Amino acid sequence: MSHSRPFLPSYGIAAILLIGAIFVSGALWKLGDVREIQLSQASVQTGVANVGGPFSLIDQDGVRRTEKDFLGRHMLVFFGFTYCPDVCPTTLAVLSAALNEIGPASESIVPVLITVDPARDTPETLRPYLLSFGSNFVGLTGTAEEIAAVANAYHVYYEIVENEGGDYTLDHSAAIYLMGPDGKFVTNYTPNMSPDAIAADLRKSALGES
Ligand code: NI
Repeated sequence: MSHSRPFLPSYGIAAILLIGAIFVSGALWKLGDVREIQLSQASVQTGVANVGGPFSLIDQDGVRRTEKDFLGRHMLVFFGFTYCPDVCPTTLAVLSAALNEIGPASESIVPVLITVDPARDTPETLRPYLLSFGSNFVGLTGTAEEIAAVANAYHVYYEIVENEGGDYTLDHSAAIYLMGPDGKFVTNYTPNMSPDAIAADLRKSALGES
């Protein structure tokens, strides 16, 4: 009979403690999410976010490029990789369409893909890939350390995900950063924005049109 059992046997207390711990860690996790969202909104609103900075990388022609080479022009910086099946090619196509829509005035805006997969994205891989989006695209690669440093400067997350069979893909954040002629962060866009919306904002934020 179970009548003689204590109200809360020790395993019951353990279970309650465990559920409590899961609840608390879940709440902390959520809190982290909220903070991240608030930080990214703050950066968009103030336009003075601490995003970007010096880099030294190799372009698709094998030439070493630094942030100084882009001073005087705007950069549209996107992190991705050529093996990406969906988000990256879609984003590059959207940027290409937005710049085409602006026309010749967009020559002062340089779209830049910085690879998060430097092991596979050599200059030889980047060159034909980017040509399919336009001759104005600059692709940048480097050593694993150089890529880690520039991703860190732009607050970009990326992670190798191993597939079965020894192959791999990457998870990565997909923000598009507009950097000013002084190399400083201006604003950012998301890959789900239309070419129209990006073009309209670029006219305002980069070309000073009202
Ligand atoms: Ni991608």
